[in-house]
Amino acid sequence: MTFPNKLFLRTLTGKTSSRPPFWLMRQAGRYLPEYRAVRTQAGSFLALCFDPALATEVTLQPLRRYDMDAAILFSDILVVPHALGQKLDYLDGEGPRLEPIRTTQDLLRLSQERFHQTLAPVYETIDRLKTAIPAHTALIGFAGSPWTIATYMVEGGATKEFVEVKRWAYRDPAGFSALIDLIVDATIDYLSAQIRTGVEAIQLFDSWAGVLPEPAFRRFVIEPTRRIVTALKTHNPEIPIIGFPRGAGLLYLDYVRGTGIDALALDTTVPLIWAARTLQTRLPIQGNLDPVLLVAGGSPMAEAVHEILHTLGPKPFIFNLGHGVVQSTPPEHVADLAELIKSWPH
Ligand code: CP3
Repeated sequence: MTFPNKLFLRTLTGKTSSRPPFWLMRQAGRYLPEYRAVRTQAGSFLALCFDPALATEVTLQPLRRYDMDAAILFSDILVVPHALGQKLDYLDGEGPRLEPIRTTQDLLRLSQERFHQTLAPVYETIDRLKTAIPAHTALIGFAGSPWTIATYMVEGGATKEFVEVKRWAYRDPAGFSALIDLIVDATIDYLSAQIRTGVEAIQLFDSWAGVLPEPAFRRFVIEPTRRIVTALKTHNPEIPIIGFPRGAGLLYLDYVRGTGIDALALDTTVPLIWAARTLQTRLPIQGNLDPVLLVAGGSPMAEAVHEILHTLGPKPFIFNLGHGVVQSTPPEHVADLAELIKSWPH
């Protein structure tokens, strides 16, 4: 098994090495001119996600420049509702648009029937990536967590206030739970297929975990995540799962205890010393440079990177951002970041 030779996977088993591994959420994307060229060639973002040759190419682009320790499959979290039959479009500059699901009745529009058939090109991309990535690079698969997926399915796109999805969750928790259950089952199927095809680790993106009050966080973030982790571990006990409940704040620790994830990704706001003392004593940590420090570059970035490495680097740690790379990031700054991490602790 190549497993122990990959720095990223070693770290996920709780071992430390001479330097921490690194990769970046949204490491493939519009900040790279070569991504924009392929994106134009594909015609639409969804066409890019479902074209195995092009999706493989854009997954590899950041590795060629920066030699990250892990590649993340190029796709999107919203291919899951799309594969359940919910109409999905990405409008330029506006983000995703879906035909909203807001009642128990609307759930009847969803179906598992063409699920794997729709997602087959994603599995094909994984199959190609297994041999296309360098031998020392790990391959990460991913899905959105049920709560975050539900916010897009119910709101019909991005939202600032989460009124529709919370109103349904608060007024009709049993009805809303039927949607969550459906997403849990679909996510287990989807991630099981990714693992069978060859991804070596999984990240669960719960980008909007931080907008819920505690009881709803327990019910709609921790509980569904626990069910996904338990089901995946039953058939794949070795697969490392990274949880990213962005904005969980004081509930990060309960999320770790309640879900059974193997590693925890932290958002930008989490204090490093608290993370080292309270979280890293339990499991490997990933994070959490502010993506805008990567836009800023120079000594503000270097100082923050040093602080993160100094505080979290001595124990099992994967360097990453606290959220995805933003579009206005100068590619040279990512090269500077890679150099800072690779030369640590010297
Ligand atoms: O490099 C990688 O990290 C792998 C690919 C990846 C994408 N999206 C590509 C993408 C991953 C892991 C995601 C996750 C994702 N998608 C999340 C969770 C992480 C987060 O950022 O909070 C969420 C919430 C989505 C949903 C989504 N996809 C939105 C809201 C948008 C529009 C906003 C935007 O940046 O345009 C997308 C589109 C998207 N997903 C793009 C990329 C590269 C840009 C689309 C384009 O090229 O036109």
